[in-house]
Amino acid sequence: MDKKFKYSIEDPMFDQEHGVLKNKLGITDPEKLQLLETQHLLKAYERSAEKYSEKHRFTGQDVCILHKWFLGDIYTWAGTYRSVDLSSESIRYCHAKYIHNNMKSFGAMLFERTPFSPLLPKCEIVKLLAEIHGELIITHPFRDGNGRTTRLLCDLLLM
Ligand SMILES: Nc1ncnc2c1ncn2[C@@H]1O[C@H](COP(=O)(O)OP(=O)(O)OP(=O)(O)O)[C@@H](O)[C@H]1O
Ligand SMILES: [Mg+2]
Repeated sequence: MDKKFKYSIEDPMFDQEHGVLKNKLGITDPEKLQLLETQHLLKAYERSAEKYSEKHRFTGQDVCILHKWFLGDIYTWAGTYRSVDLSSESIRYCHAKYIHNNMKSFGAMLFERTPFSPLLPKCEIVKLLAEIHGELIITHPFRDGNGRTTRLLCDLLLM
């Protein structure tokens, strides 16, 4: 996805010159930053696979924790909801001012539906995951890393 379309040029966290989000390490090379993010995503997978038991009932707070484990060493805003509006070429994500409310409902839904019962047929699990994935992506609670955090959450729910 082209970041030029996603971040407003007025967003103080976006380094327009290099096309990257300003980060704790001062990295301006997009490829270097991408690689570092991937390494940290792997660590977040390992950490969360260890921490969460199969009986865990997930909440919106867990989504923030996962995002923080993933990007907390790289960005100051990791694990906190964005306060700026974002859009991609074809999607306008949730207005920043509605994120807290949306995530409250989303968290309540997660708490209600997790952990998935082992008795659920596969097609029901796929439907649930699609709803969870779609809702979190359209809310897009964080400045970046929403896709990877959502896939991490879905992988944990499956585990
Ligand atoms: N045009 C689109 N159609 C459908 N989904 C989209 C589109 N553009 C973005 N998305 C969703 O938004 C996610 C990207 O959001 P964001 O950049 O915050 O996450 P990311 O983890 O940095 O990116 P990625 O998922 O590419 O690794 C994608 O994974 C996808 O789920
Ligand atoms: Mg991204």
